Amino acid sequence: MNINGCYNFEDFRKLAKKKLPSPIFNYIDGGADDEITLRRNTEAFDDCDLVPNILNNVGEPDLSTTIFGKKIDMPIFLSPTAMQRLYHHDGDKASARAAEKFGTFYSMSSMANTTMEEISNVSSGPKLFQLYVHKDKSITDDLIERSKRSGFDAMCLTVDTLVAGNRERDHRTGFTTPPKLTLQSLISFAAHPQWVFNYFTHPKFELANVSKKTDKGTNIAKSVIDYVNEQYDPTMNWKDAEYIVKKWDGPFALKGVMSVEDAKKAIDIGCTAIMVSNHGGRQLDGSRSPFDQVKAISDAVGDKLEIILDGGVRRGTHVLKALSAGATACSFGKAFLFSLGAGGQKGVERLLENMHKEIKRNMILMGCKNLKDLDASKIIYRK
Ligand code: LAC
Repeated sequence: MNINGCYNFEDFRKLAKKKLPSPIFNYIDGGADDEITLRRNTEAFDDCDLVPNILNNVGEPDLSTTIFGKKIDMPIFLSPTAMQRLYHHDGDKASARAAEKFGTFYSMSSMANTTMEEISNVSSGPKLFQLYVHKDKSITDDLIERSKRSGFDAMCLTVDTLVAGNRERDHRTGFTTPPKLTLQSLISFAAHPQWVFNYFTHPKFELANVSKKTDKGTNIAKSVIDYVNEQYDPTMNWKDAEYIVKKWDGPFALKGVMSVEDAKKAIDIGCTAIMVSNHGGRQLDGSRSPFDQVKAISDAVGDKLEIILDGGVRRGTHVLKALSAGATACSFGKAFLFSLGAGGQKGVERLLENMHKEIKRNMILMGCKNLKDLDASKIIYRK
């Protein structure tokens, strides 16, 4: 199978699995503990039904919306995800170019392998920077100032990763950044010579935005769990978040908000958006899924904040359900990383094209001309 044969999440996942050494595939594919939340994130969409209206003369539906002060051409964008050059040697450059082509946001992780300066040279599309608060405060300040200078449109602060979740797949495979050969992983790397060739024939693998400040994760191999626990500040609190919102002074989201109470506090500290997310089920296993929670949050604060649903999205109909439940837009991580692993920029373009077609087709079938037509009347929960 190649990229043109990929029609859905499972197709991209299978192709990525074939191309990636197992520690890398499992790093994307896995979640925390028993992966209950990881599974629920997608399954939650099946507990409700869309209710179409007929004979509406929809014509060509308009898929555009505005988030973070930017008009985007479809209501889904690429979540910030770490270390994209592990999945394809072009990494963030491939994702940013694909997102620009489809008129939607690309997001850069604090743990990216490409600098924000390099990305602003290759893409003039809408860009979101994701911040982790490091124990070394100079790293946080540096990341904020540089993303501003590099023309990033918005920032999100991840608030669900004060310590790393228990990702048992990573323990088993010995996954580290940069990748390190271990007894467990040797066979898997040897079975993917193309990946190994690309890894060694492209610029050095590093955590490009922080490598001048710390050797960890760049010259010193670390598991992501150790990296998070050593580098990130577990004492981060609302005052710190407020300081960052003020310092950024532009469109800003907290990423990882799950309660109505916290959504209200996000407004109080000046956020313009929240990302309802449990970090793709990679942090607190047993936590509620974004789709199960988004309606309560939207009912409470939907008129004051943009609400991004992040987690479990695989289909155009998931986006339609999320918007009907009150989300402004959606983002996805795993789905797009598999498409990146499966085919680089072309893979991500194929995924975004599929999603665009699915959303458009289903809006017509729903009788919706605009995304605003996707309201509470379009969805019924089974229980
Ligand atoms: C992860 C962190 C690093 O989910 O964002 O792996």
